[in-house]
Amino acid sequence: MNIEKTLEKKVKVAWSCPSNIAIIKYWGKHAKQIPCNASISLTLSNSSTRVEADLVEKTTTDSVQLAYYFEEKRNLDFERRVTQFLEDNILYFPYLTDYGLVIHSINTFPHSAGIASSASAFGAIALALLELSYSHRGQIIDGEFYELASYLARLGSGSASRSLFPGFVLWGENENKRNSSNLHAVPIASIHPNFQAMKDAILIVEDQPKKVSSSVGHALMNNHPFAKQRFQQADARVSVLMDVLKNGDWDKFIAICESEALTLHAMMMTSKEYYLLMKPGTLQIIEKLFAFREQSKIPVCFTLDAGPNVHVLYPASYQVEVERFIKENLTDSYKKAIFDMQGNGPQKLL
Ligand code: PMV
Repeated sequence: MNIEKTLEKKVKVAWSCPSNIAIIKYWGKHAKQIPCNASISLTLSNSSTRVEADLVEKTTTDSVQLAYYFEEKRNLDFERRVTQFLEDNILYFPYLTDYGLVIHSINTFPHSAGIASSASAFGAIALALLELSYSHRGQIIDGEFYELASYLARLGSGSASRSLFPGFVLWGENENKRNSSNLHAVPIASIHPNFQAMKDAILIVEDQPKKVSSSVGHALMNNHPFAKQRFQQADARVSVLMDVLKNGDWDKFIAICESEALTLHAMMMTSKEYYLLMKPGTLQIIEKLFAFREQSKIPVCFTLDAGPNVHVLYPASYQVEVERFIKENLTDSYKKAIFDMQGNGPQKLL
């Protein structure tokens, strides 16, 4: 197929890719974005990044010519990060030798919501730029396309690898899961009805950018006194959680999910250069949630990202009760809430 002709036809592509929340946390990496342990996440629905990529005439001799706009404004910091990602992986994007690239991206979640946007952003970027490569080679989008997009998204941001698939997603090798890989994520197929309609209320305790980036956090797991035990624990928990997701045991789900959140933060608090990302509001929400669960017996639990915001997870069947509890009891502890839920994965827009 003639490349110029194909590119003339397909010079603009657009994708939307959701964010995800890890249940088993990825914290620590080596080599080229290889995780030190496997992780499992839940793909979200409303919190997503939309990316539109256009090929334009190349006007420089740079190996990659990129202009990156976030919400209509040129974003030079992210542009540098994406340019580096494209240069490092130029083999997958051969058309960038001949064409310049303009990317416009928007997030569906509010500014400074404290939600990690790199997972949804790199997911959407990988999908859009890979579609251009497929178009260039005359290939159609199939299952392998998503696997390769996950491989590429991982190289931009580790957790992005998991955003390429719907529902619960595993990234990292695990003996109980055929096809599992450190190089890309895979969807987890057998999910009990108890976990098929998950809700995630994201309570934004702090909306300022975090003081310690996740790349610094990952690096602090090198030579961390508890690193070995932590990686073994997470890998073992991945196997247990896969069984739990299959047999529908909410009590075990809660125990693993909350301990993972606290263990992630414990790693931060016990690294050589220790730091603390939880805020008073984070702890207030957690304690009130424990009391609510104890008294109501509703299967509801929390998890945390690398930040102070609390993700409250519960089945859709208890939406009314849990959301009433949040609005009546927790509003003093958070600035805003985003009511999200389990999602169906990325969407091709053009
Ligand atoms: O994808 P990164 O490098 O931003 O790391 C994300 C790490 C956590 O969000 C804290 C955990 C996870 O598994 O998503």
